[in-house]
Amino acid sequence: MHIDLSSAKPKDRYKFLMSSILPRPIALVTTQDDQGRVNAAPFSFFNIMASTPAIIVLGIDSKSPGVPKDTVRNMQLTGEFVVNMVSEAIGEKMSLCATPLPEGEDELKYSGLTAAPSIQVKPPRIAESPINMECRIVNVMDIGNDRNIVIGNVVHYHIDDQFYDAENGYVLVEKLGLIARMHGKSFYLRSKDIFEIERPVGSSSIKV
Ligand SMILES: Cc1cc2nc3c(=O)[nH]c(=O)nc-3n(C[C@H](O)[C@H](O)[C@H](O)COP(=O)(O)O)c2cc1C
Repeated sequence: MHIDLSSAKPKDRYKFLMSSILPRPIALVTTQDDQGRVNAAPFSFFNIMASTPAIIVLGIDSKSPGVPKDTVRNMQLTGEFVVNMVSEAIGEKMSLCATPLPEGEDELKYSGLTAAPSIQVKPPRIAESPINMECRIVNVMDIGNDRNIVIGNVVHYHIDDQFYDAENGYVLVEKLGLIARMHGKSFYLRSKDIFEIERPVGSSSIKV
């Protein structure tokens, strides 16, 4: 079977893509508005695009036609945000942060997560998250149909000491226990079944 995706119904297009491009990492993004009110929301249209410069991207749609989600509105107001990575331990709280609360209401308080100060940006980090990345906006790209691609530069990186082997310089990935988004509205994956495929001799294992 094959499908002309450009003429498929939007719902079908969404289903095919969401059930094919997975697992997707989850960024629990914290922002602040111009009055300093904190906002938190999860996004799985999220990935790394480069390490030098340290560039990440997010795909964010709108609340309704012409009304951006609070995250995008705050990013455009302040130019700053924090990506908080999501471990299984905070999975349910991450999901609560997707509740469409009235503008200005703090999803961190609502979900029982704790704000911790950032170093280079104003929006707070999430204390319970094992890794936080403080970011500055490079570009918010309007791709039409009420959707934006946000490009961010990671300027400061935090990792909970228990997940970093400082002696050997390794992030303890298996211990982190990050979760990823799968298909449908509420399916996730644990990062537990890790295995190795050798790279061809001479291929770079550092750059990509
Ligand atoms: C795991 C998960 C992943 C999500 N990924 C996205 C996404 O990539 N893009 C998006 O626009 N919304 C995504 N959402 C929905 C937003 O989190 C939700 O609309 C949220 O209320 C937006 O909040 P805000 O208005 O405070 O920015 C996701 C929700 C969940 C639970």
